[in-house]
Amino acid sequence: MNLCPLFLAPMAELSHRALRELIERFGGADEYWTEMISAAALTSGGLFEQWYLDAGPRPEKVVFQLFGSKPDQIVKAAALLNTYPCAGIDINMGCCAPAIARTGAGIRWMEDIERAGALIARLRAVVSCRLSVKIRLGLTEDFDYLLRFCSRLESEKLDLITLHPRTAKEKFKRSARWDYVYRLADCMRIPVVGNGDILDPNDAMHRANGRCFALMVGRGAVRKPWIFACIKGTAPSFVDLEEAALLFLDFLSRYQPQPFHYSRACRFFTLFCDNLFWAHYLKHLLYKEHTLSGMEAVLSRYFREHEEEKLCRLP
Ligand SMILES: Cc1cc2nc3c(=O)[nH]c(=O)nc-3n(C[C@H](O)[C@H](O)[C@H](O)COP(=O)(O)O)c2cc1C
Repeated sequence: MNLCPLFLAPMAELSHRALRELIERFGGADEYWTEMISAAALTSGGLFEQWYLDAGPRPEKVVFQLFGSKPDQIVKAAALLNTYPCAGIDINMGCCAPAIARTGAGIRWMEDIERAGALIARLRAVVSCRLSVKIRLGLTEDFDYLLRFCSRLESEKLDLITLHPRTAKEKFKRSARWDYVYRLADCMRIPVVGNGDILDPNDAMHRANGRCFALMVGRGAVRKPWIFACIKGTAPSFVDLEEAALLFLDFLSRYQPQPFHYSRACRFFTLFCDNLFWAHYLKHLLYKEHTLSGMEAVLSRYFREHEEEKLCRLP
């Protein structure tokens, strides 16, 4: 089943090199969007920026995502990223996490069409690679406003839009309303990528009806890093879950700085452990460990005690 391009979604503390390495082992996605990178931190030489800028193992497939509230900072950060080999640069105009929205970044860009349009015009002057924005439905459910917003950005020569069709308030409640993705895609000249609630190959098959340009998968790709291979029909019959979990820890130790290890491992296992019957119990044990070697030992013990869970049959 080869439907349309498949993208890994940008997810804070999840969409980093270690996850990309793991996904590549199973056959890979067509693009990997990075977790959002702070324009302010990037332009002021933040302590950990080298890790955010590591586009391995496939830089040509990586889209750097920026967030910020100050146009000058975002433009400067985008100009810097434009010197790196990558597939594109994306601006986060959809994040509704209070810590981000409070600063005027993320979804707050959707409040003011003119301001967002002016930002894209400035970015277009410094970004020579693909320039995109990722949005939600907006602060309220209003298709006319959504269309005016997207058309304004398109008129400034934006290249692509990703829509996660939920409002700001909904966070992850209700189901993603894909009818909005299709309606938007039908009205725009530039490609529209659909995102939200793709958890298995069947979901992908239903969503890819030729109306949107690509499908973007977030949480489903952390739970099942082999999901892209399953959708493409290139996955093996079985996955060794212990091997995959240990491999992820190994990549984390190699490609992320030590102060990030604990939070990133927890974020990953919060979703990955859902593949296992005793998920809740295993997560509890993992969260108590503060080192990657401690987590490794917990995983090895778990799979020794529950050998029947090691191999997972793929659809
Ligand atoms: C832990 C987490 C972190 C996220 N961080 C970002 C982010 O940095 N930038 C962004 O645009 N969206 C972010 N998102 C939203 C996802 O990109 C995606 O839109 C959302 O999870 C819906 O897709 P899914 O149902 O496939 O997970 C995040 C989502 C999660 C669960």
